[in-house]
Amino acid sequence: MKTDKKEKTRTELPSLKGKKVLITGGLGFIGSNLAHTCLALGAEVTIYDCLDANSGGNMYNVFDIQDQVHFVKGDILHVDELSRQVRGKDIIFNCAASTSHPFSMRNPMLDLDANSKGVLNLLEAVKNFNKEAKFVHIGTSTQLGKSHYSPADELHPEFPTDIYSANKGVSEKYVLIYGNAYHIPVTIVRLPNVFGPRAAIHSSDFNFVNYFVGLALQGKDITVYGKGAQKRNLIYIDDCLAALVLASQNDKANGEVLFAVGDRHMAVLEIAHTIVEHIGSGRVKSIEWPLDRKVIEIGDAVLSNAKIKKTLDWVPQVDVEAGFKRTREYFQSCLEHYFEQRNTVTLTGR
Ligand SMILES: NC(=O)c1ccc[n+]([C@@H]2O[C@H](COP(=O)([O-])OP(=O)(O)OC[C@H]3O[C@@H](n4cnc5c(N)ncnc54)[C@H](O)[C@@H]3O)[C@@H](O)[C@H]2O)c1
Repeated sequence: MKTDKKEKTRTELPSLKGKKVLITGGLGFIGSNLAHTCLALGAEVTIYDCLDANSGGNMYNVFDIQDQVHFVKGDILHVDELSRQVRGKDIIFNCAASTSHPFSMRNPMLDLDANSKGVLNLLEAVKNFNKEAKFVHIGTSTQLGKSHYSPADELHPEFPTDIYSANKGVSEKYVLIYGNAYHIPVTIVRLPNVFGPRAAIHSSDFNFVNYFVGLALQGKDITVYGKGAQKRNLIYIDDCLAALVLASQNDKANGEVLFAVGDRHMAVLEIAHTIVEHIGSGRVKSIEWPLDRKVIEIGDAVLSNAKIKKTLDWVPQVDVEAGFKRTREYFQSCLEHYFEQRNTVTLTGR
């Protein structure tokens, strides 16, 4: 078993001192961790989030930094408010999204609003009021659908199997179109299964790895569909944040799509056992595939990170086991805020 001690030295992240940063979706898993990181790097941070009931946002995620960030409760569907917020910013990270694959199948129009229309709104606001801002958008590896070749790279065709992934693919194209047509410096960072502190761990509607973590933290059994043989790529949140920050500060990334994915691929069953070993006390059980999950299943997702390594000099640094240990350490002191007391804290903001 690998340990923290064997990890490579952390990538040196650039200072963001004096930079004004807007993070849409900043109450969510990735956006809130990004807010913490940008503050630590010296940036002035504005969070723009509507605390969408169908996403993984959680006010507790920024409770400890509420005095240091500007918080705007707003929807990316509201063009006027967005237009006010993009002005004067040096970097805009778009982390706002409706983030559930099954929810998107049950509510395709709501998914369309957040994951396509909202992105167009944001791009319109940037085009009209701040074309100089660096715009970093997050895509998802599931945009590809079933693999046509392996490892899949950024040129792999996209035939997604669920509405969320389809809308993420479309909005990624909007971002590239605006970047090209209006000379806006844009980068797409596509992510695999990201796990770690501040994730939504309460519902199987979101990323399965974080849901398994939530079950393990409660000492519950983990349920794997079928044999759990399909391979997945995992990345710890800190490596994801490093990719996003590096992308925001490197002109070589402008106009590019980059897979920020880990070096290692694991079967779902192996992931479940690893989580039990490092986090919980339950067992791993196998059940029949529910039909609504089987129809959107993509099989093995084996991905290449060669391009991002070359472009940003980025390497994933936290191995999966160390990541699970850090995740456990975070959640064990505040678990109630991710379950029964979810979203009961109020934010005053700056
Ligand atoms: N977590 C992962 O494993 C993963 C993997 C691939 C891609 N991504 C992408 O990363 C980004 C962030 O994901 P996350 O895991 O942090 O999700 P999350 O669900 O934890 O956070 C999303 C945030 O967006 C906010 N939001 C939703 N709709 C909004 C709207 N209309 N206006 C303003 N805010 C809105 C929510 O309130 C929430 O705080 C998303 O684009 C997602 O598609 C995440």
